[in-house]
Amino acid sequence: MPKFICSKCGKSADFETSIFACECGGLYDLEFKPVKFDLNLIDQREFSLFRYREFFPIKNISLGEGLTKSVKFDDSLYLKMDYAMPTLSFKDRGAVILIWFCKSHGIKNILQDSSGNAGNSVAAYAARAGIECEIYVPKGTSEKKIKMLEYYGTKAVVFDGTRDETADACRKRAKDEGIFYANHVFNPLFYQGTKTYIYVYIYEIYEQLGFVPENLFLPVGNGTLLIGCEIALKELFEAGVIKKLPKIFIVQSEKCAPFLGATSEPLAINAKPTLAEGIAIAKPARGAKILSSDYTGEREVIMIKEDDIEPARNFLASTAFTSSTPQQPSTPPTQAT
Ligand SMILES: Cc1ncc(COP(=O)(O)O)c(C=O)c1O
Ligand SMILES: [Zn+2]
Repeated sequence: MPKFICSKCGKSADFETSIFACECGGLYDLEFKPVKFDLNLIDQREFSLFRYREFFPIKNISLGEGLTKSVKFDDSLYLKMDYAMPTLSFKDRGAVILIWFCKSHGIKNILQDSSGNAGNSVAAYAARAGIECEIYVPKGTSEKKIKMLEYYGTKAVVFDGTRDETADACRKRAKDEGIFYANHVFNPLFYQGTKTYIYVYIYEIYEQLGFVPENLFLPVGNGTLLIGCEIALKELFEAGVIKKLPKIFIVQSEKCAPFLGATSEPLAINAKPTLAEGIAIAKPARGAKILSSDYTGEREVIMIKEDDIEPARNFLASTAFTSSTPQQPSTPPTQAT
């Protein structure tokens, strides 16, 4: 059974603890070493993330997430289409693992804070698993977002405070009442899901393309996608499946870029509203950990100008992709590069 290890003081905690962070304030990492990556261990008959279950710490609930296409944009660029997920974002990769953990440990109630894609995704999987879910959202959250949560039978708790105060109130309640805090940033199981991008994303990219690209561009707010990808890349590298680690570009918005120019801690910034809502995180809770990552490949933080976002989106929306990888890979690549 894997263990939780405090990222600050190193103290370990039981996998089944309902305490969501160490008493010293440090967030948990997961002490878990999967079997060595091997294409033969992928279940070719399973067309969801669970085709990779041999590399997960726990086993299956699914809404059909994962195995999204990587479309070829041009000779040098592939786009991973994770909007084609059950709740329309990559968060489903992490949520499915986190909620499966809750389900397999008999957890009946969970709390989370997020009115964005993570909240929506956790609400959907909680509904799938028959787990009662309450999600804290700050006052001012749009009716539409609240309705989306309610469609899943989730109770939206509207808190009169900022995003951060709302999260604090949610954690206080979780602590006081011993309710499981199913949060995408705090709970390291979420990263075991996002690793499939490589590892939730790279496993897939490797299996679909037969190689890992030289450069990866990842949108980063709290970094749940980034952390998952780094875990996956390390696993593939240690298994000898890839010989070179790709360069990771940490993409931030001009209006909210606490990693740009940061060294040991994210910069204290004055965030402004941006169209790139999903990455508008001014104080990423694992920020210091991300900056001191043991990823040995190159990394660079880049910033996207606000005025470039909408034209880029419109350009992509009007672009036809002529070539793509199959949705359900049939013959896995055998040649490691
Ligand atoms: C579509 C999308 N991309 C990127 C991100 C950034 O993820 P993270 O905050 O884990 O870095 C989010 C987060 O909500 C998102 O919804
Ligand atoms: Zn600690």
